[in-house]
Amino acid sequence: MFTRRQILSTGGTAAAVGLATPAILRAQSWFASYPFALGVASGDPAPDGFVIWTRLAPDPMAPGAGVPPYAPPVQWEVADSERFNNVVARGEALARPELGHSVHVEIAGLQPDRPYWYRFTLGKDRSIRGRARTLPAAGASPQALRFGVCGCQNYEDGFYTAYRHLAAERDLAFVFHYGDFIYEYRQDNEFDKNGLPLPTVRRHAQRELYTLDDYRRQYAQYLTDMDLQAARCSHAFLSTFDDHEVRNNWVSDIDQDGVPPEIFALRKAAAMQVWYEHMPVRAALLPRGGAILMNRRLRYGDLAALNLLDTRGYRSDQPCGDGVKPVCPGISDPKASVLGSAQEAWLDANLGRKDATWSCLAQQVMMMPLDRRRFDDEKEKSLNMDSWAGYDAPRSRLMSRLAKIDNAIVLTGDEHQNFAGLLLDRDRPVAVECVITSISSGGDGQDLRPGSDRMLANNLQLKFINDQRGYGLCEVTPEAWKTHFMVLDKVTEPGLPIKRRATMTMPRGSATLSMG
Ligand SMILES: [Fe+2]
Repeated sequence: MFTRRQILSTGGTAAAVGLATPAILRAQSWFASYPFALGVASGDPAPDGFVIWTRLAPDPMAPGAGVPPYAPPVQWEVADSERFNNVVARGEALARPELGHSVHVEIAGLQPDRPYWYRFTLGKDRSIRGRARTLPAAGASPQALRFGVCGCQNYEDGFYTAYRHLAAERDLAFVFHYGDFIYEYRQDNEFDKNGLPLPTVRRHAQRELYTLDDYRRQYAQYLTDMDLQAARCSHAFLSTFDDHEVRNNWVSDIDQDGVPPEIFALRKAAAMQVWYEHMPVRAALLPRGGAILMNRRLRYGDLAALNLLDTRGYRSDQPCGDGVKPVCPGISDPKASVLGSAQEAWLDANLGRKDATWSCLAQQVMMMPLDRRRFDDEKEKSLNMDSWAGYDAPRSRLMSRLAKIDNAIVLTGDEHQNFAGLLLDRDRPVAVECVITSISSGGDGQDLRPGSDRMLANNLQLKFINDQRGYGLCEVTPEAWKTHFMVLDKVTEPGLPIKRRATMTMPRGSATLSMG
């Protein structure tokens, strides 16, 4: 451990003259405990690079995660083999206290469409090794794309076995994470189906989160899970957020408990900053004025374009008092918005580009306006007001936009179930939606939740339901888009095997799907 004066004098001098860290700092441990306890990650790949990430946390749950308020210089290296015998890029980045001692480095100048390995070093401590792939060159015509889809990982609901299996999936270009990376509250009780109390699998250390330190500790607790670390070091992630990164069912500056917007905005700003600190995203996503411009586009040669959407930050308040409710006049409010006007115009322009065969919308809340009735005593049709179903005007606009393009597919999270079905413009299919189940949220689940047969009967556009935990695997070729629904029998026991429950296939040139 060094004093603040030593750090400032030696580190400052080295940086000023462009030298590597002095030998004395390289030869020793900076902290009493291992500083890379939260692992490493990579994300937002491009044809010539990606972001690499780590956060110093020798004592993850302590104030400042055990790092005093200075900015240690962390060395990073990128190599073209896992043994690091040929380092192709290296440098030093400050782990700044303003950003929770996280490090984000945007790597550029690499070759397209190949794997690289990266690692970090501080003093004599070295991080685990991460792996990431660059994207194909912009003008390339790749014949196949394989990627993962996951999210909704309530730590209290189950083990991250799905992440261990996702880490072992070979040749993934990236993993799209649809959000709910953390949950912001502790469950006081969990119940079995007879209403009797159950033991929780694991406990959140904190009951509720408000401050920067609270949110930082929550991510630290999650990231000490080695299954999650295994997935994050194995593949580049496309990170987005949903509601629980901030607060259940928030939209814009509206908290569902009636907290004044200017007060809720403070909590949201803290949550957004800490999301940035822990995600392998580019500096373009740094929070400004408490908000993050998270929507972005990624193109995989001329095979597929992914539009990553933000369906929380600019949305108008949920109609009918939120929840699953019978239809009320609020759902047809012509001024309602899901994406906000700027993001909607951006998406509109993207969908007009003719530079990729498949147009994917990678987003959070369900687009199919499903009738949610499951039981005979539910007389009136009901909708999930926290999904696109509660927003008729913007949903209709998007459906008529999708009607003008071919090969549109939507990937969604939030539901803690798997669904596959058709998106309709009036009655005409215009796209396919795959909703991917949770990593752990909701606990073990079962193949079919009670009443699923009724949901299938009431919603002819819906072709598949499953209520188990797991992740999605997309396999894309010029001829077809396949989504495999990968599931586990239980998440309350660690280490169970993963299996392919079903596969959705959408052929090129027609908004139809088949399940196999
Ligand atoms: Fe969730």
